[in-house]
Amino acid sequence: MNEQLPVELLSDAFNVFRDASRKLEEQYALLEDRIDELSIELAEKNKAIERTRRLAAMGEMAARVAHEIRNPLGSMAIFANLLERELASEPDKQRLANHVSTGIKSLDNLLSNMLLFASSPEAKLKPVDMRKVIEESLLLAKGHDRSDVSVRAEFCGQTSIMADGVLLRQLFLNLIINAIDAMDEGGSLKIRTRVVEDRQRYMEIKVSDTGRGIRKEHIDRVFDPFFSTKDRGTGLGLAIVSTVVNAHSGFIDVDSVAGEGTAFTIGLPMLREYRI
Ligand SMILES: Nc1ncnc2c1ncn2[C@@H]1O[C@H](COP(=O)(O)OP(=O)(O)O)[C@@H](O)[C@H]1O
Ligand SMILES: [Mg+2]
Repeated sequence: MNEQLPVELLSDAFNVFRDASRKLEEQYALLEDRIDELSIELAEKNKAIERTRRLAAMGEMAARVAHEIRNPLGSMAIFANLLERELASEPDKQRLANHVSTGIKSLDNLLSNMLLFASSPEAKLKPVDMRKVIEESLLLAKGHDRSDVSVRAEFCGQTSIMADGVLLRQLFLNLIINAIDAMDEGGSLKIRTRVVEDRQRYMEIKVSDTGRGIRKEHIDRVFDPFFSTKDRGTGLGLAIVSTVVNAHSGFIDVDSVAGEGTAFTIGLPMLREYRI
């Protein structure tokens, strides 16, 4: 028996079908929008990955270039030194040779900082004499020094410690240069070491200056890589300082009053089994 479906039933079914298809269309449109959004996001992420790759490659290249520049720079330093000595009787010319030496030292410091920054170094601990390390750093800073800045180093108690002398020299060189930079109207730089018997025995080294100090809003950022308030600063100095301190499982504090001066205090653990 072919009974005809009631018209209402057909019309209800048609309405249900129309609602369902409208909902599907809406869902489809939403999905299309989402796909568009995801494609844009993916394109941005791909760009970011590409940028990171390029930066990493640039970093590697910078480290390689730094290495390559090191050797000829060493020869130039020797030559400039010889020239300085040869020109002892001609002070005007000697001053020029001295400029060359100073420029080479700055470049060498920049390269050392770049190489250390690129390599996240490990400390190779050996017995070192902190007095010798600090005196060598002061010597390396020659050229940055000025007649209106007095320098005093005081060593109290034991100065031998298990540490990485090469890394520490770079650490102090950066602190000393920063201190001198901060005293463009003259002042005094003091370096003092002492042994502290706390829960752990450690050597404390305080580097203080009477320079312009660090502004409050900058104090939390001074150890950030590339943070610099100087026209030609790289912002790598204190980043290296904190890397070297960490490599020795030490600590660093900074205490500064704008207009009065700055003191960096470093603590390096002294291994108990090492005594001389
Ligand atoms: N002894 C100091 N006195 C005053 N400001 C300092 C001192 N040491 C560091 N700073 C501040 O910290 C910043 C970062 O120092 P650093 O990482 O060595 O980079 P750079 O010397 O290239 O600027 C400096 O630009 C300066 O503003
Ligand atoms: Mg610096």
